[in-house]
Amino acid sequence: MKILITGGAGFIGSAVVRHFSRDYGFGIINLDKLTYAGNLSSVESVSNLPNYIFEHHDICDEAIVDRIFKAHKPDAVIHLAAESHVDRSIDGPAPFLETNVRGTFTLLECARSYWCGLPDSAREKFRFLHVSTDEVYGALGAVGQFTENSQYRPNSPYAASKAAADHFARAWYHTYELPVIVTNCSNNYGPFQFPEKMIPTMILAGLEERQLPVYGDGKNIRDWLHVEDHAAALYCILSKGAPGEVYNIGGEAERQNIEVVEGICDVLDSLIPNGNFASYRDLIRFVPDRPGHDYRYSVSCDKLKSELGWNPSRSFEEGLTQTVSWYLENRDWWQSIQKRYDGRRQGLG
Ligand code: NAD
Ligand code: TYD
Repeated sequence: MKILITGGAGFIGSAVVRHFSRDYGFGIINLDKLTYAGNLSSVESVSNLPNYIFEHHDICDEAIVDRIFKAHKPDAVIHLAAESHVDRSIDGPAPFLETNVRGTFTLLECARSYWCGLPDSAREKFRFLHVSTDEVYGALGAVGQFTENSQYRPNSPYAASKAAADHFARAWYHTYELPVIVTNCSNNYGPFQFPEKMIPTMILAGLEERQLPVYGDGKNIRDWLHVEDHAAALYCILSKGAPGEVYNIGGEAERQNIEVVEGICDVLDSLIPNGNFASYRDLIRFVPDRPGHDYRYSVSCDKLKSELGWNPSRSFEEGLTQTVSWYLENRDWWQSIQKRYDGRRQGLG
């Protein structure tokens, strides 16, 4: 089986590329523009495999995407390429509209044209997996969970662009019968995450003895899923999911931001105690809140569990310890990013 993966040099995409090429033996075509968030060193471990091909292009370029479908003849698409950071979308929403909406539209159109020309048996088996976020559903109060039937209420420019893309994906199934499946996943964490997202921001700040910037009162809640469990869920959905369906993916690990940051500090305290202070917790600082900061996300993944048999494979605490250790042991990876990314606060508008 050959899969066209967009955004395969990013955080989640690279996990999917590594697992699908190495563990499942799929042919992989990795289509990535290598924006600030793309990093080929994240797929270095598989880039010499004979079943791996890299295409350095923009998903908005219709002629190129058309050519890629015709040249590589994929059996499926897993679409992950996106602008993915909420704070950046507050400072500059235009690239979010361009890549997340127009890029998704272009990919859907090229996929449709390619799929229409396939023989019947290949048309039947083809899948277009559109990877999205739980943030399209907006913010929850203290109780309740997002389900596949929750209303779309995106609040940030990022969430709005992903919501628009989800609607295009859905429409291409209903109108053209392109075998699209949409997934909406909660916050991911794990190795190879670009250090602008909360968890690597805090780990790197701790390692460098800088302040740990917690937005607002730190009581906002996210539902955390390890990136490798996300990759496993995508494999399960690609293998067993039904076209036209939506599957929510969550980690069943709701935590307040401050709990996560304190957890990171505790792992750092145990792995590399620092003589300059009693605990890394001393570095925590509450800073002005993000504009429009969604209070709480929580995802019910009952459908994915009961219909397709997927379950997260590790606890948040195990995953967090493994993640902190990974950043400790892979300084070259993030120090090379620091040469072009200064870690300055984003998203104050
Ligand atoms: P990321 O920012 O780490 O990676 C995005 C990748 O897409 C990068 O490699 C980048 O170079 C590439 N890219 C961006 N614009 C492109 C374009 N125009 N053409 C080709 N490639 C382009 O993102 P991520 O965190 O890995 O997220 C991947 C997907 O999963 C996104 O669609 C995101 O919305 C979704 N998602 C992310 C999370 C999360 O917690 N990170 C949670 C749920 C869903
Ligand atoms: P983030 O990783 O940006 O993901 P998202 O905004 O998509 O949920 O942020 C996770 C949470 O952490 C969010 O509530 C904002 C908060 N946060 C901080 O408190 N400090 C930070 O430096 C960052 C980047 C995020």
